[in-house]
Amino acid sequence: MNTVMIEVSKTYPILIGAGLLNNCGEIIKDKLGVHAAAVITDDIVDKLYADKVMKSLEDAGLRAVKFVFPHGEESKSIAVYAEILSFLAEHHITRTDMLISLGGGIPGDMGGFAAATFLRGIRFVQIPTTLLSAVDSSVGGKTAVNLPAGKNLVGAFYQPDLVICDYKTLDTLPESIFADGCAEVIKYGVIMDADFFDFLKTHDIKDNIEKVITRCVELKRDVVDQDEKEMGLRAILNFGHTIGHAIEINSHFEISHGSAVAIGMVMAAKGAYATGMTDADLADAIREVIVKNKLPVSCPFTAEALYAVSCSDKKRSGDTIKLIIPEKMGKCVGKRIPVEDMLTFIKAGL
Ligand SMILES: NC(=O)c1ccc[n+]([C@@H]2O[C@H](COP(=O)([O-])OP(=O)(O)OC[C@H]3O[C@@H](n4cnc5c(N)ncnc54)[C@H](O)[C@@H]3O)[C@@H](O)[C@H]2O)c1
Ligand SMILES: [Zn+2]
Repeated sequence: MNTVMIEVSKTYPILIGAGLLNNCGEIIKDKLGVHAAAVITDDIVDKLYADKVMKSLEDAGLRAVKFVFPHGEESKSIAVYAEILSFLAEHHITRTDMLISLGGGIPGDMGGFAAATFLRGIRFVQIPTTLLSAVDSSVGGKTAVNLPAGKNLVGAFYQPDLVICDYKTLDTLPESIFADGCAEVIKYGVIMDADFFDFLKTHDIKDNIEKVITRCVELKRDVVDQDEKEMGLRAILNFGHTIGHAIEINSHFEISHGSAVAIGMVMAAKGAYATGMTDADLADAIREVIVKNKLPVSCPFTAEALYAVSCSDKKRSGDTIKLIIPEKMGKCVGKRIPVEDMLTFIKAGL
């Protein structure tokens, strides 16, 4: 088992190991004491893993209750969030009790926001069960729910007290959902760690899962350490995401986030080189690792269609938009460009 310590406004460990679910109750009791626990999960993860978690909590002497919602982004809503709050109240969860998010980024983000706001904040444990939530959403304390007007428009920065990542749970992930997480893994290499990127060229992510998750969590930790509330550096994590987000919207979210980010990374690297924003010509190297991990690399939409929606990106401020540009493999920087130059950039990336 590996432990990565996060030391920001809260200090807490991220435990990464095989089979941790079996004794998550003991781990939680040891770190947080014996309190009641409300487990928040979706229907798919419920069937696969909730019994194991509930039993482990009860065996450790905790009172455990469970709230299950239908899987999928549609549930990440104010309505389900409100149901969670009522559930916590009905089950007499107090400030010293805890909320446990069990599942991918959706239980993680929505449970985290409920934990942040119920009684002005209760203890919060993340048990990620997707690769994306293991390497990305469970680290760093961003919580959110969606509004009809857009994704993640309501939320809070709220760090968990503990993250338990049992990567054995990834064995049951459909291949495409595992691949989605691979996009974020590859992103860490491009933006922060050339050696790690080289490792991904020659090694399989699944076969090296403990090392891969641990390295990604360390890299995200390094960013969050310096920029907990996304005032600057943390923006590098958005590499490939501005174009990726435009692809997701154009596909009406038929193209998954990971697939869209994979295409977005190749386009951003190609566009940045072709428009002279960087001397680094990385698109081919990035494309190769993406293809190896069963993700798409070509964009089915026109530059104009992408441009039309990229102007509403959250990263826009006034008439400029911030792009994350690779300076060389393992190092990215944020650069502001006028919104109208975005069309040239996207065209160059296609
Ligand atoms: N907070 C952050 O910093 C941050 C970062 C990135 C993404 N996100 C958010 O994360 C969400 C996406 O995360 P996700 O892809 O994990 O979504 P998710 O939680 O919907 O999980 C994807 C699917 O996998 C299923 N699943 C989960 N674990 C499984 C397992 N072990 N075996 C089989 N099936 C399993 C789920 O039921 C779901 O259908 C988005 O809402 C996004 O906005 C947040
Ligand atoms: Zn992402």
